[in-house]
Amino acid sequence: MAAALVTERLTRRFGGVLALNDVTLEVAAGERHAVIGPNGAGKTTLFNIISGEVLPSSGRVLLDDRPVTGLAPHKIAAAGVARTFQRNNLLFNLSALENVRLAVQAHTAATRRWLTPTARLRDLREAALALLARVGLEARAALAARALSYGEQRQLELAIALAGRPRVVLLDEPTSGMSPAETAAMTALLSRLGRDQTLVIIEHDMDVVFAVADRITVLHLGQVLARGIPEEVRRHPRVREVYLGAPPPVRP
Ligand SMILES: Nc1ncnc2c1ncn2[C@@H]1O[C@H](COP(=O)(O)OP(=O)(O)O)[C@@H](O)[C@H]1O
Ligand SMILES: [Mg+2]
Repeated sequence: MAAALVTERLTRRFGGVLALNDVTLEVAAGERHAVIGPNGAGKTTLFNIISGEVLPSSGRVLLDDRPVTGLAPHKIAAAGVARTFQRNNLLFNLSALENVRLAVQAHTAATRRWLTPTARLRDLREAALALLARVGLEARAALAARALSYGEQRQLELAIALAGRPRVVLLDEPTSGMSPAETAAMTALLSRLGRDQTLVIIEHDMDVVFAVADRITVLHLGQVLARGIPEEVRRHPRVREVYLGAPPPVRP
């Protein structure tokens, strides 16, 4: 499978802190890739570099083999990278449908602008409803975003991120602050999202990681400590030691 996203030997220093140290990552098209590691491991810095908010000290990022390092965040977004944040950035007084409709409108290609205003509105509305259905919020379309539960607001953010049909979606702790029921709903949603989008997920909840991820990269002190399919990572002695909280298996 072709790589949708590659980071090549990314290094980033903040003063004396080496936040990322020589991080190479390859994510195949359609893959669900989890990035895990203790606080301060460099996970958010990795996302900030991929989305263009932070420049690497060295190394580069490729999207479908095209280098994007140094492009402004909006150019990288236009090249197919969407991101959800831990902080909600919804328009709370507008309905769920309106929130998604505005996002779809912002991404509407010039090729569709020939439609009459009425047809365009219908078109946008249908696209927005389809996105709400994808994240399981079709029944909540008419509610103001502020009337949604916290978990539903996070689902709505995902619908907004999907509005531009991104190639790659970066999810920074999609279940943080959620109740167990909300976490289960988000996990199910991510699992059934379909393979049109490549997902890279920073997540602390190992149940979510093991349910969703095809492959996992473990960061520790800015470096790749381990990578592989979930079973390999789960059994990795150093990962158990520094992250999963269990002592390494006793040697016979
Ligand atoms: N803008 C910044 N300025 C200075 N130090 C930073 C900045 N961003 C991150 N760091 C440092 O880089 C390291 C990695 O941080 P971060 O990428 O946020 O880790 P994680 O998301 O894995 O918790 C930490 O030591 C953090 O303090
Ligand atoms: Mg972080």
